[in-house]
Amino acid sequence: MQATQSSSILVVEDSLVQRTMLRRTLVDAGHEVVEAGDGVQGLAALEEARFDLIISDVEMPEMDGCELCQAVRRDPRLAPIPVMLVTALTSPADLARGIMAGADTYITKPYRTDALLTRVDALLGTEHQPVSAGATCTVSFAGESYDVPADPQYTLNFLLATYENVVEQNRELDQLNQQKNQFLGMAAHDMRNPLFVIEQFSALLTGGMLGDVVAEQAKLIDRIRANSEFMLRLVDELLDITKIESGTLQLDMQPSDMVEFVERNLGLNRVVADAKDITLAFDPPSEFAPIEMDAGKMEQVLNNLLSNAIKYSHPGTRVDVLVALSDGHVRLSVKDQGQGIPEDEQAELFTPFQQTSVRATEGEKSTGLGLAISKRIVSGHRGRIWVESVVGTGSTFHVELPAS
Ligand SMILES: Nc1ncnc2c1ncn2[C@@H]1O[C@H](COP(=O)(O)OP(=O)(O)OP(=O)(O)O)[C@@H](O)[C@H]1O
Ligand SMILES: [Mg+2]
Repeated sequence: MQATQSSSILVVEDSLVQRTMLRRTLVDAGHEVVEAGDGVQGLAALEEARFDLIISDVEMPEMDGCELCQAVRRDPRLAPIPVMLVTALTSPADLARGIMAGADTYITKPYRTDALLTRVDALLGTEHQPVSAGATCTVSFAGESYDVPADPQYTLNFLLATYENVVEQNRELDQLNQQKNQFLGMAAHDMRNPLFVIEQFSALLTGGMLGDVVAEQAKLIDRIRANSEFMLRLVDELLDITKIESGTLQLDMQPSDMVEFVERNLGLNRVVADAKDITLAFDPPSEFAPIEMDAGKMEQVLNNLLSNAIKYSHPGTRVDVLVALSDGHVRLSVKDQGQGIPEDEQAELFTPFQQTSVRATEGEKSTGLGLAISKRIVSGHRGRIWVESVVGTGSTFHVELPAS
């Protein structure tokens, strides 16, 4: 980016690497740059030449950025020069110090080159507006009180700088999150095949197809198989979540009937429920519940709700599945007589890896991904999922999708 007019900028920064990088960025944009290693050197440079802008680090030995700023504001010849603080600090106390010192704006490290240059351009050609003498006000933030200039222009400048920094950091977090998803997706994908081989081979060994194994060995091999099966499921869930988060989840929407769908999917869950002496009941409504959905993906949702209801309930209880049509929606509910979920933990239920204080009643495995995936699948169907739960009475998870 070339500046329309070459300006003279004083860069005050104690780290040689960061100073050099900042100089290059500014020189490449067409500015003239003089470097100083701390506030004292900075003041000396200001005696020697005229500058249009001072960009200063905050934390430096000798004289820090805020002290330099104060010295500049005290000197009538230097006072009009705008000052931008570059800081790794973001606490309100540090910001209040920057405001009091008379900085015009600040940018947080690490910053993107174009974000820095935009801010530089905005400051060049302006003059620092002094704060009305003595007018301060006390503001409270996060339980602390700060005395800051009671000057609207000043306050607005700092609020805007804070806003720009936050927008910038959000953008960076977004990018990092995408990278993390890609990495997680690749790692999960690469782990899938070796795990599948372990699971299949241990099944072969316990099945006796490769010769006899003694009982002790069979027990251990079976644990290898069960654990690799669990890891495979976890890897599949990770793949799902990364696919969903990166926006690459494809839904294959087909006309279906919710009642028939539930009946078809109860089978395997009934085997698990029976083993725990839990009654799994479905009393289908007399009418059809026509719906457009991706049955494969919705199967994941239903299976997770059913497996949760069974996993977090005690033997001898019952789980009811209900389907109801109302106001152009089809509602699917899974109601258990389990432990219930404390109210203050319910808000986090649909966040990845979030497990509540409620534990599986017979040591079943849990990863805390099922509901996060379910919520994203349901949202993809333009539906909603929520829970009603009372500790000691049980939980009902509802899924509502638009009827077709
Ligand atoms: N029906 C329920 N009753 C009580 N607690 C529940 C119920 N369903 C979910 N929970 C709580 O919510 C948490 C999150 O559930 P979620 O289905 O997301 O993960 P999970 O069951 O732990 O693991 P998985 O990824 O295998 O589904 C559980 O760990 C459990 O603490
Ligand atoms: Mg679950």
